Amino acid sequence: MADAIPGYVTETLIAEDIDAYLAQHQHKTMLRFITCGSVDDGKSTLIGRLLYDSQMIFEDQLDALAADSKRIGTQGQEIDFALLVDGLAAEREQGITIDVAYRFFNTERRKFIVADCPGHEQYTRNMITGASTADLAVILIDARKGVLVQTRRHSYLCHLIGIRNIVLAINKMDLVGYDHDVFDAIVSEYASFARKIGIETFTALPISGFKGDNITSAPSPNTPWYTGPSLIEHLETVEVLTSADAAGPFRLPVQWVNRPNLDFRGYCGLIAAGSIKPGDAVRVLPSGKVSLVTRIVTRDGDLGQAAAGQSVTLCLADEIDCSRGNVIAAAEAPPETADQFEAALVWLADEALIPGRAYWLKLATQTVSATTQAPKYEINVNTLERLAAKTLALNAIGVVELTTDKPIVFEPYAANRTLGGFILIDKLTNATVAAGMIHFSLRRAQNVHWQPTDIARADHAALKNQAPRVLWFTGLSGSGKSTIANEVEKALNLMNRHTFLLDGDNVRHGLNKDLGFTETDRIENIRRVGEVAKLMTDAGLIVLTAFISPFRAERDMVRAMLPEGEFVEIFVDTPLAVAETRDVKGLYKKARSGQLKNFTGIDSPYEPPLNPDIRVNTVEMTAAEAAAHIVRQIMPLK
Ligand code: ADX
Repeated sequence: MADAIPGYVTETLIAEDIDAYLAQHQHKTMLRFITCGSVDDGKSTLIGRLLYDSQMIFEDQLDALAADSKRIGTQGQEIDFALLVDGLAAEREQGITIDVAYRFFNTERRKFIVADCPGHEQYTRNMITGASTADLAVILIDARKGVLVQTRRHSYLCHLIGIRNIVLAINKMDLVGYDHDVFDAIVSEYASFARKIGIETFTALPISGFKGDNITSAPSPNTPWYTGPSLIEHLETVEVLTSADAAGPFRLPVQWVNRPNLDFRGYCGLIAAGSIKPGDAVRVLPSGKVSLVTRIVTRDGDLGQAAAGQSVTLCLADEIDCSRGNVIAAAEAPPETADQFEAALVWLADEALIPGRAYWLKLATQTVSATTQAPKYEINVNTLERLAAKTLALNAIGVVELTTDKPIVFEPYAANRTLGGFILIDKLTNATVAAGMIHFSLRRAQNVHWQPTDIARADHAALKNQAPRVLWFTGLSGSGKSTIANEVEKALNLMNRHTFLLDGDNVRHGLNKDLGFTETDRIENIRRVGEVAKLMTDAGLIVLTAFISPFRAERDMVRAMLPEGEFVEIFVDTPLAVAETRDVKGLYKKARSGQLKNFTGIDSPYEPPLNPDIRVNTVEMTAAEAAAHIVRQIMPLK
């Protein structure tokens, strides 16, 4: 955390400190929770109060706080607890919390990690980050205002992310005269909303973070009508039921395989669900191979049993193929394996979702390539309405269908957060762009099988006496792709090679005539051409493609679709100024005058290959020379 308030830093630990902290209080159970609400709801004051009452602030810090409160606090002479928490400089300027701050405190009975997240809609991503590891959510309500749009949004997000313990903290009771009726009215209004989104139970408390009512002991003399526990008591005693993670059949996503010598082979990871003991039968997925557990090895010696939340190394009776990303599961109750899903996505990046674009999908220890279609719908988190959507922008939540390039082992998020939750990562920038929750696999994925044929791709290629290739030409419009590809094809034909040339303009007259030049359409254009080229290589052909194919991501996607070495990227490197001067089709002129939109190089980007297999420069070479150069590079093709 940056820029804590000088003089009175709270017990905010950085990641490396967490282990030490946890070790110190090892004997206690832990509760991770998140507080949701807006600045005005008194969230920071409440957290400050919790830290203060559990004595996590040192004496000298308190002195500084008292002095400082008088100077800059908003609460007159009393201690302003919000000052303890509103630690970020920017947030103090804006008066809102802008990042997730994790704080640690502990009482006699339990230790706590609280994620303090901002409440405004534009910070949905911060809230999701904080909520993703929480067991419980404290939803703050200002008793004077009741259930607000943001109360509904926060509740929806907490439920979506799988938090099953909801505390409705009705705050500022002092400002409504500790009125029992006000409390009851808010509880019943919230209950009817909660039912609608699937929250079955919640615990409501009347509190005042500022005055301290029902925070550490209950009932406060001001609320004699309240019969429940204080907030701290509730947090200390509530049973932590995140999801079915801990119960249910055994699941261990394999993080790595430990093979120090020939006599030892162990599969290491964090148990995501269930428990295991030596002698139990397990199944390794996706292969489906079955074996028996022989040992459970840990740093502190072998165990007779291990359960969810523990990091272990399993040894199996048989030498079976099992590597990082595989899941070891109870033999009789394995999770599903599929490559198509419906999932909810929370979009976390400034750049919106691009349907068709391949992203890395990370789920437990598995990483695969995944694409989505246009969303089925977007959810208005304030009204819970379903809206039609072509994409998902920053902070949007929607439901999409996803396809992965390889089957993954998973469970629905509602059943298991570890095996049902995933993130999407931009392949070029490496930024996390979305958090996702799998709903279910699409049955069509299970009902369509790959049909083996007797004449395989090797037979087709052998008959043609050649090695299939995709010669992928990329470059600006007018760079000379089609002309050079045409020359190369003629040369190859003279050498008795069986070829086929797929040309951008031509394919757009037929197969792809429904596509235009938006980013999404160009991606789909390249995806289809990639699939066609792949089929043609299966048929044994040498395929030449001449498409602008402006994005690295899709060229890389086609490369990944083909066997290693079959994709040859040929960059027709003609500077924009040169292509524009030629302007064979008069399109640059139109684009410059604004008659043609999304024109590559003008108002639509071209991402040149960083490391093309072959590069030709049409300023230095004629088309015939470029073609001869390419043919020399790719021969003998067998
Ligand atoms: S790609 O970007 O999707 O790979 P593709 O190669 O199929 O493009 O089509 C490019 C051809 O379409 C160009 O050579 C040009 O003749 C024509 N064209 C029409 N509009 C555009 C545009 N907005 N941007 C680029 N090319 C266009």
